[in-house]
Amino acid sequence: MFWNLRNSIDFLLRQHVHISRKNYKENNEDKNSLDFTKSELELESLLLNKYNFYYYKNNSTIPNYCQNLYILNLLDKYLSPVKNEKFSILDVGSKNWYYVQAEYSYFKKYCNELNLDGVEIDAYRLYSNFYNRFEVAKYYINNLQGVNYIPNDVMNINKQYDYIIWILPFVLIEPHRFWGLPDRYFNPEKLFEHVYLLLKKNGKMLIINQGEEEFNTQKNIMSGLKYESLLLDNMFYKYKHERYLSIIEKE
Ligand SMILES: C[S@@+](CC[C@H](N)C(=O)[O-])C[C@H]1O[C@@H](n2cnc3c(N)ncnc32)[C@H](O)[C@@H]1O
Repeated sequence: MFWNLRNSIDFLLRQHVHISRKNYKENNEDKNSLDFTKSELELESLLLNKYNFYYYKNNSTIPNYCQNLYILNLLDKYLSPVKNEKFSILDVGSKNWYYVQAEYSYFKKYCNELNLDGVEIDAYRLYSNFYNRFEVAKYYINNLQGVNYIPNDVMNINKQYDYIIWILPFVLIEPHRFWGLPDRYFNPEKLFEHVYLLLKKNGKMLIINQGEEEFNTQKNIMSGLKYESLLLDNMFYKYKHERYLSIIEKE
């Protein structure tokens, strides 16, 4: 009750009060101090060449580079798109979209024209430096053609997509509240049903969950659908909780 009231008031304020200031920016960090294992180094070199990722290695912070390599690696390992003229991709719950470069570089390799949309319901949530997620996302998507950050509820999206990426959906109420969202937005089954409708026939949805409880809840939500799941390794970035990947193919 208390959480919901507090979250509802804060959420409403965030949607309407925006501070304006200099554009957000991060500085490159030297990657020589990275302590990758031998197999990570080999894989890094493969990914850098295959996806032309050197530019990002030379223009990113160390944690951000590692998180992007983590995502690029799992897209490379578990998706295998057939080359197409055009792809439309949706990222659900993008936060500040710190991993957009990995998604962009990956899908750009397999098409001539890329439309990549990231939707985030709480785009104006502030960081301690007083920049909000939207402002940080604008920095990450700068110069990426065909990429749009959409500050909105995914329930209001009605396009059709070839691939949908959904990293850490809120399937339990505690993290949903902890991250400051009002209870009225918590309906994981309804949300999933809607997102699934946005997927084209033969399209694929890739979902990552953290921890066994979230993963088991996710499996209940997906029951009846054609999907495969596995436990992810921690290549390039060590996450606190184990992460599970599910890939759903729309029949
Ligand atoms: C656990 S965070 C994951 C963020 C990001 N994908 C990542 O990997 O760090 C879940 C995100 O989903 C967003 N979200 C929750 N419900 C949503 C909805 N209905 N539409 C769009 N975004 C939503 C939340 O605001 C939050 O930023």
